Amino acid sequence: MAIVTREKQVNSSTIQINKQPPGLSTLSVHGGELRQKASHALTDSIVCASTYSFENTDAVIEYIVQKQERGEYGRYGNPNERTVEKKLAAMEGTERAVLFASGMAALTGLLMAKLNAGDEIIFFDECYHRSREFCARDLARFGVVTHQVKTGDFAAMEGAINERTKLLVSESPTNPHLSIIDLEQFAALGKRCNVETLIDATLATPFNIRPVDYGINYVLHSATKYLGGHNDLLAGVVLGSAESLASVERLRGIMGGINSAHNCYLLQRGLKTFQLRMQRHNENGLAIAKFLETHPAVEHVYYPGLASHPQHELASRMMKGFGGLVTFELKAKEWTAAARVVDACRVFRIAPSLGGVESLIEQPFVMSYFNLTADERKKFGIPDNMIRIAAGIEDSADLITDLEDALEAQRA
Ligand SMILES: Cc1ncc(COP(=O)(O)O)c(C=O)c1O
Repeated sequence: MAIVTREKQVNSSTIQINKQPPGLSTLSVHGGELRQKASHALTDSIVCASTYSFENTDAVIEYIVQKQERGEYGRYGNPNERTVEKKLAAMEGTERAVLFASGMAALTGLLMAKLNAGDEIIFFDECYHRSREFCARDLARFGVVTHQVKTGDFAAMEGAINERTKLLVSESPTNPHLSIIDLEQFAALGKRCNVETLIDATLATPFNIRPVDYGINYVLHSATKYLGGHNDLLAGVVLGSAESLASVERLRGIMGGINSAHNCYLLQRGLKTFQLRMQRHNENGLAIAKFLETHPAVEHVYYPGLASHPQHELASRMMKGFGGLVTFELKAKEWTAAARVVDACRVFRIAPSLGGVESLIEQPFVMSYFNLTADERKKFGIPDNMIRIAAGIEDSADLITDLEDALEAQRA
């Protein structure tokens, strides 16, 4: 009997099933992967190489002239990283993904590649505090000016645009306030004013929001969060057109913010269960938000899936689900009351970050804003009694019981 080998390498991101494009879960399992892998293994090998060899000088020249996709030197890429990039691009619906060693490496890499001295960028002001810090303290040293306008105030953003403006930046949802940006309006503003747009969709993921469907130019994720999903790796990714990301990839090769092969494999493995995890994160986030909203010790809950959220209608239009991040404020105003709730939890773990299978809890005032003055915290909308929850994938009944007990302990 003849042994038939199928050596043809299939990039699953192009698979057509019944002439329909594959769904997100199929892409997260198969997208970007070769059908036939080394040693006939079903799974990818981790390629531990800092450098790659050539057969002879002709092969080196051929590689350079033909811009072949193969290894040269580890700082410029590795096979595991390229596989994950293709998978992520397929899931996001973009031509290209450029993977970095962390979300911040992705953001700083994109901004450094795209901006020149004298350029200006405009941020909606509810954003990850390190992104704000990088722009205010570091980009400024290279002559790039950052403006911040109130989140969702499109008139203020348009008013701040001038001929030097190169990029409009926002998160959606924002962290930790869970505000939602009208992506249609955001993309339209950029197009009208001839300025590119960037959405950090870390909290939404491609399961809940697809910014490119609205015409956003760049999507960024801290893949440390839901994409990796297991609190065991750092990674970041910028997605967009191949043309617009060529300069980002080039600069990454110089600045060296590439992820290791081991890390890329972990990310690829985590992505296989992405859709299942996201469904549970969404369910748990909503269940917790609904529970907190009715609790007598709770003053306010920020969660776009609640009908009481001021942008619930917009969120329902833009998002498939609302994610696992839930922020709330206690009726008790002292920071020590919130600390008692955090400390009393037995299932939730006290830690920064979000998007992993383990549920986390933290007090933003203590975890991220402790060294700021009361005025600065007020400006950034971080009250002392605010608590942020990152719902994992445990049973929602256990998470709710844990919170119920912790809220009771605070009142005792
Ligand atoms: C919305 C958002 N963007 C970017 C980042 C930075 O990602 P990383 O920690 O992977 O550098 C974070 C980290 O918390 C974040 O919450």
